Amino acid sequence: MTTPDILQHTEGGVLTLTLNRPQRKNALTQAMYATLAAALQQAVDDGAVRVAVIQGQETLFSAGNDIEEFLHAPPAGTSSPVFDFLRTIATFPKPLLAAVCGPAVGIGTTMLLHCDLVVAGDNAAFSMPFVNLGLCAEGASSLLLPQLMGYHRAAEALLLGEPLDAATALEVGLVNRVVPPQEANATAQRLAAKLAAKPLSSLVETKRLMKGAQQPQVLQRMAEEGAIFGRMLREPAAKEAFSAFLDKRVPDFSRM
Ligand code: COA
Repeated sequence: MTTPDILQHTEGGVLTLTLNRPQRKNALTQAMYATLAAALQQAVDDGAVRVAVIQGQETLFSAGNDIEEFLHAPPAGTSSPVFDFLRTIATFPKPLLAAVCGPAVGIGTTMLLHCDLVVAGDNAAFSMPFVNLGLCAEGASSLLLPQLMGYHRAAEALLLGEPLDAATALEVGLVNRVVPPQEANATAQRLAAKLAAKPLSSLVETKRLMKGAQQPQVLQRMAEEGAIFGRMLREPAAKEAFSAFLDKRVPDFSRM
């Protein structure tokens, strides 16, 4: 399953995956997750790929999971494309970069916890509104976010669900650098080219040494979150939140 909503380009050892569904704010569908996962899985053994980059456009990274799919075709269990994508980025052995401008909602932010370097446009807004949608944390964010920024800041991001701006994301270590939006993709490409010129086995071994010990725990947490998330997707609070978003009204949780 591949989709034109993901553009793929390999040049100079760098695989670039561009989220390309601007009419839906790059909301991610199962077809998009499947395409991203397949491209990255293929890149693991592809000698022509040394580094991968995920990017959007100058005003937009991703509105997170497609809410219509959440409502009408929620992912079924941990064998679904979204969980395949999450497991793939959590175990991707080569350097993985992201360039983020504009909104990065839900998995648009949690996927960054699995990237090695993140470049943000100064217009980036990172938000994880899972609780506001009647859902719970995903992508191992319940484990990795408190480790990254401390419990209280993680609680603010995950419980209140309010966005972090680019400066805050830099301060808490979610991103490596902040640049003008029109330079974000080019900056990520420059960093990717720098990495692609280095000995691949040194990159792979060093990444494995940094992340390998925690990987089983990350995968276990993803599965645990996934089981709860999958149940909550089908419950009244989430259905009300999704319907309200699509109907452009405020959700009513008063009876839940
Ligand atoms: N799933 C499906 N459609 C989405 C979407 C999503 N996650 N995000 C945006 N869209 C659609 C909107 O319904 C709208 O469709 P329309 O043109 O038919 O009305 C279109 O994309 C443009 O979105 P809009 O909300 O008008 O853009 P905006 O610039 O005002 O706001 C966002 C952008 C990303 C802040 C806002 O769209 C948003 O909050 N999206 C939902 C994010 C979310 O909760 N994701 C799930 C996380 S688990």
